Amino acid sequence: MTYSQIRKAFLDYMEQHGHKIVPSASLIPDDPTLLFTVAGMVPFKGVFLGTEPAPAPRVADSQKCIRAGGKHNDLEDVGFNGRHHTFFEMLGNWSFGDYFKQGAIEMSWDLLTNVLKIDPARLVVTTHTSDDEATEIWKKLTGKDAIRLGDKSNWWSAGDVGPCGPSTEIFYDYGPNVAGGLPGTPDEDGDRYVEIWNNVFMEFNRDADGVLSPLPHKNVDTGAGLERWAAMLQGVTSNYDTDLFVALRRAVGEVTSVTETPENTVSFKIISDHLRSVGFAIADGVVPSNTERGYVVRRILRRAMRHGQVLGHRGALLSRLYPALVSQMGDAYPELAREQSRVIATIEKEERAFEDMLHNGLKLLEKEVPNVTGGTMAGDVAFKLYDTYGFPLDLTQTILRERGIDVDIAGFDAAMAEQKERSRSSQTFKGGLADHDTETTKLHTATHLLHAALRKVLGNGVEQKGSNITPERLRFDFSFDRRVEPNELAEVERIVNDAIAAAVPIVCNEMSVADAKAAGAIGLFEDKYGDAVMVYSAGDWSREICGGPHVANTSEIGTFKIKKEESSAAGIRRIKAVVGNS
Ligand code: ALA
Repeated sequence: MTYSQIRKAFLDYMEQHGHKIVPSASLIPDDPTLLFTVAGMVPFKGVFLGTEPAPAPRVADSQKCIRAGGKHNDLEDVGFNGRHHTFFEMLGNWSFGDYFKQGAIEMSWDLLTNVLKIDPARLVVTTHTSDDEATEIWKKLTGKDAIRLGDKSNWWSAGDVGPCGPSTEIFYDYGPNVAGGLPGTPDEDGDRYVEIWNNVFMEFNRDADGVLSPLPHKNVDTGAGLERWAAMLQGVTSNYDTDLFVALRRAVGEVTSVTETPENTVSFKIISDHLRSVGFAIADGVVPSNTERGYVVRRILRRAMRHGQVLGHRGALLSRLYPALVSQMGDAYPELAREQSRVIATIEKEERAFEDMLHNGLKLLEKEVPNVTGGTMAGDVAFKLYDTYGFPLDLTQTILRERGIDVDIAGFDAAMAEQKERSRSSQTFKGGLADHDTETTKLHTATHLLHAALRKVLGNGVEQKGSNITPERLRFDFSFDRRVEPNELAEVERIVNDAIAAAVPIVCNEMSVADAKAAGAIGLFEDKYGDAVMVYSAGDWSREICGGPHVANTSEIGTFKIKKEESSAAGIRRIKAVVGNS
């Protein structure tokens, strides 16, 4: 059975057993406590709580899920075992006050053993220590003694508060040739016993104090990983060896022109996993950014790019792989094709912005790895990567963790604080920027973008003659010998806002004045800068000699608005502008 056929077999079975089949909800939950839809039950939380009507007493679907941040986070495991993904499909059936433990367990068993013909001897079940009822149902129905486990493995909730309850889990045994131990044993994380279905008996609501109260109904919430079912039914121990992932891995090989080998297979797997989460998330409307779910997606995308570089690939990667995702999964998820051009454009923009920074940062990181002693990279080294190459700390951590190396976070924070102090004093000297809280930092980066945009619209005769920033506004004086026309101002404003929308990371490089000039940096080339200067670049939007500080990414600026254009002195014009999120 193919991946798609298995999805259909599940839904057909549930439909035959009285369930209404509903489409997958969005990956962006209508729920402020969650970053993503992490389980099939998320769209039904209100139904469990009794605040929303049930679509039907029995419902089933295959739900798009992302587990890459917050309580449910499988990001670090991806590629290193065959079972965890950032994106996966959760097959689920729900009873909203209809059948309960008996009905749920009977259907699970019937579908697995009678319809999908899985050998009952290969199935192992667990129940919660408190749940005699489910334990007895299993015994009567199958003759099996459930393994009874505590809250950690057999109590389920989506978040810290909300609907929850004891669960019974079904495991598939790949047999003694595969390493791993029974659930509840120290070796349970091996590949031998894989959890293939979780049935949660949602009876309780947990409040912020941890107190449980009964829900209006006794409900059933089940979840089964479609990717794991595909592995089980296709006789492979890794999800990456199922038809779907084989096709995606092949696409990775085609786009990178690299042959997959045992040495580089992890990168193939990570890229094919991350293609799904990034592609589906952006199709559902997530915009890569520096906060919340946008940041999770940005991180995943950057991690995929980094593995592209491990394979020796430069340039666009996920944006070129996306069509393969559409051809594999577009039938079941029409939004993939519908949103194709927007998704590809969004990914391309991210890829362009990150490419150089990643390349330079990786080189430095590789140079530093042999210097690591005691399994921990010094915080100031990680900070240099961040500060000089815009290399995010968490990416450094992820890369190093793969080699068993930690990062000294306290040292990183100390280096960051020191740098802030340094640039505060140097900036007071150079740019009249006395304090750099968030607003002034945004205004400072906006000043660079404005400077570059003015030169684009009015010509390279524009040179900075003065700059002053207060927490409320920026003021920029520049050489120009006539009034700037409204249409020109509008054009300047548009360019700056485009740079903000492009979400370009700000990268800082230390170089000689000669190199800075050669790189096309603008700014004051004066003696006081000494031999080495700091050049801050926002992609191709702006490159300027400066002492910082700047936002990490132009997107943090929000929006840019010119408030006033006036004469400052003979041949010098003055612009006042504001930034913000309004
Ligand atoms: N909501 C349950 C889970 O995600 C079924 O495991």
